[in-house]
Amino acid sequence: MLCDIINDMSKICVEQLNFAYGNSREILKDLDFSVEEGEYVAILGPSGCGKSTLCHILCGIIPNVVDGRITGEVHVGGISLREAELKDLAKTIGFVMQDADRQIVSATVEDELAFGPENFCVSPEEIRIRVDGVLDLFGLTDMKDRDPNRLSAGEKKLVTIGSVLVLEPGVILLDEPFSPLDKENKQKVMSAIEILRKQGKTVVVVEHDRDSVARADRWILLEDGRIKSSGPPEMVKGII
Ligand SMILES: Nc1ncnc2c1ncn2[C@@H]1O[C@H](COP(=O)(O)OP(=O)(O)O)[C@@H](O)[C@H]1O
Ligand SMILES: [Mg+2]
Repeated sequence: MLCDIINDMSKICVEQLNFAYGNSREILKDLDFSVEEGEYVAILGPSGCGKSTLCHILCGIIPNVVDGRITGEVHVGGISLREAELKDLAKTIGFVMQDADRQIVSATVEDELAFGPENFCVSPEEIRIRVDGVLDLFGLTDMKDRDPNRLSAGEKKLVTIGSVLVLEPGVILLDEPFSPLDKENKQKVMSAIEILRKQGKTVVVVEHDRDSVARADRWILLEDGRIKSSGPPEMVKGII
């Protein structure tokens, strides 16, 4: 299988993926794509085309939490999703949900950043280093004692990106990270993505707004659950 052959080179490999919830119609159809290490890929498509469904498959929520019929192969960071447990995947692919309020569980920014590593039994000394590192990286140090729920939408988004980054995954997957944000906050998240790229992370952003992901290396355009086109933004723009 292609996924087995290119596993070492590819951070994400999706081969002949088909998916349906329960007895419903197929949501994802014959998807084939790979994302290389260090690449920044935007998966674009209109509302309802299956973007969040694809995210949930890539991070293991489907089928571990939400059920459905999956055929095909998906490998993330060398792990086959058929064999992966959700807890192993969290250290491989960090998933930033569309709605930050659904992801935030702690009363302070600092506790929110420590929550993941604490659950993975990382030592307190190491947690301190990772949390301080992320606070510094995203300019959140002055907000470390604040309630994340009371921050601006953009700052909240940075906290949720930080809360997956502390587990040090190679891949960061973001579901419509720009959608509720004003121009200034969008810029904050764009800068955060640039920081992730400089760290060598593989970044996948699922988005409906093309302008927000203009700086991606590659766009994959989804339409009704199928890939319509894929390539550098300038090339795909010529097709749509
Ligand atoms: N848990 C679910 N059960 C059944 N159908 C769902 C579920 N979640 C999403 N869908 C359906 O799957 C399709 C794709 O949804 P989604 O992946 O959320 O698209 P997008 O993120 O591109 O807006 C939609 O028709 C939606 O109604
Ligand atoms: Mg969605």
